[in-house]
Amino acid sequence: MGEARQRIDRVLSHLGFGTRKEVKALVRAGRVRVNQAVVRDASAHIDPVRDQLEVDGVSVHYRRHIYLMMNKPSGVLTATRDERQPVVTDLLEPEHRAFEPFPVGRLDKDTEGLLLLTNDGALAHRLLLPRFHVPKVYYVRVSGYVRTDLEDAFQTGVRLDDGYVTMPAQLRILQADHATSEVEVTLTEGKYHQVKRMFAAFGHTVLYLKRIRMGPLDLDPVLEPGAYRELTEAELAMLRQSLDEPSREPVDG
Ligand code: URA
Repeated sequence: MGEARQRIDRVLSHLGFGTRKEVKALVRAGRVRVNQAVVRDASAHIDPVRDQLEVDGVSVHYRRHIYLMMNKPSGVLTATRDERQPVVTDLLEPEHRAFEPFPVGRLDKDTEGLLLLTNDGALAHRLLLPRFHVPKVYYVRVSGYVRTDLEDAFQTGVRLDDGYVTMPAQLRILQADHATSEVEVTLTEGKYHQVKRMFAAFGHTVLYLKRIRMGPLDLDPVLEPGAYRELTEAELAMLRQSLDEPSREPVDG
C-alpha cells in the first residue's frame, strides 16, 4: 500500500477510535504508543503500515480498505446519503462508517439481500464491469404460475419494455402454482429493475426479491435483514480471484 505518513489522530479516527477531538484526548492522556514509545502529540506523523501502533497496550492493525457483506433490508435506499429516506450506510456502526464505504451496485428500495459495501474503488469498479460477467443470483417470488418454457426464454434473452434484449439468464423454478411461484434467477448484468422487468415481460409481478449470491459470495444465512459483517480473508481472496481475468468473452446483448 505504501501510503504516505499520516497524522496519528487521523489514523486512529479512521480506525474507529472516535472523532479527531476524542482521539486527541486519548493521545494526550498517554494511552497511545508508537514503536513502544508513548506519543502525546496527536499531530505527529506515523507510517500506519510500518509503525507499530498501540492503544492502551493493545496493538492496532491499520487497514485502508474495508469490505462488508450486508443483508440489505427492504425500505432502505442503496445509497450513502439521502435527504429524506434511510440509506444502507445508516445501518453501519461508526467504526465501519469511518472508512466511508459505499455500496457496490444497487438493489431497489424494496429488494433485500446481499449487498457489498467497500471503500476499495478499484475492486468495486471491477465487480461492476460488464466484461467480468459477475453472476448475481436472486430468489424471486412472483405472481402466477411460471411455466417451464420461461427457462428457455430467459436463456435466449428477454426483450424489455424499452426494447433492450437481456443477456442470457438462468431461471430455475423452485415451486409453481396458479397463485404464486418461487424461482431463482441468475443474471450477469444489472439493468434498472431488471428482474422485475423481465418477469413483467411475461405478465408476472415480482412480489418479493432477494439477492442471495454475487460472484463467489453467498449471503451469510446468519445475517438478519439490516445486519452485516466484514468479509473473511477467504471470501475476499475468492472475490479477487474471480476478477483476476474475464471468465468469458463478452456476449452481445
Ligand atoms: N432486479 C430488480 O428488479 N431489482 C433489484 O433490486 C435487483 C435486480
